[in-house]
Amino acid sequence: MIDIETMGAAHVARVAQLEQQCFSNPWSERSIASEMENDLSYWLVAVEDGNVVGYVGSQTVMGESDMMNLAVDPAARRKGVAQALVNALVEGLRQQGSRCLTLEVRQSNLPARRLYEKLGFVTVGRRHNYYFHPREDGLILRKEWRI
Ligand SMILES: CC(C)(COP(=O)(O)OP(=O)(O)OC[C@H]1O[C@@H](n2cnc3c(N)ncnc32)[C@H](O)[C@@H]1OP(=O)(O)O)[C@@H](O)C(=O)NCCC(=O)NCCS
Repeated sequence: MIDIETMGAAHVARVAQLEQQCFSNPWSERSIASEMENDLSYWLVAVEDGNVVGYVGSQTVMGESDMMNLAVDPAARRKGVAQALVNALVEGLRQQGSRCLTLEVRQSNLPARRLYEKLGFVTVGRRHNYYFHPREDGLILRKEWRI
């Protein structure tokens, strides 16, 4: 059974560990912790048997949200965790009055691109050489909804 919860102080160390495991340019534990002090930020974690197995983070300005991070423990993938996280994020943001969610994804990241496509995101642009380690274009994806 997987529960989606708002990220709290007790989750931060494990989220930072997953961030290290899943990205070549990870956010530091301190940066992740500071998100909880930021009124613009909204982060969720997926918890299975007391363990954080995934997380998603966002920031919202003037009714427009950006997804900062999304990752799932490699041992917990393909079980719908990311889908549950993003759906819960969109619902929470909608309730807070946000109208859309924008994100960047590496062009080569086909698992993530398939996920976003399944959830109704559309490609709205490209950032040339946006990513480092390795250098690569980022696609800009967006999902809009009625409040
Ligand atoms: C991308 C990621 C978050 C997906 O997490 P997940 O929990 O395994 O995804 P889900 O089980 O919710 O998958 C939902 C849908 O996404 C797509 N998908 C997910 N992983 C996929 C894969 N490896 N290959 C193809 N499609 C995939 C499928 O459409 C899937 O639906 P289905 O299982 O019914 O076919 C995970 O692979 C991950 O953490 N990757 C590393 C970090 C990352 O790339 N984050 C995104 C940065 S933009």
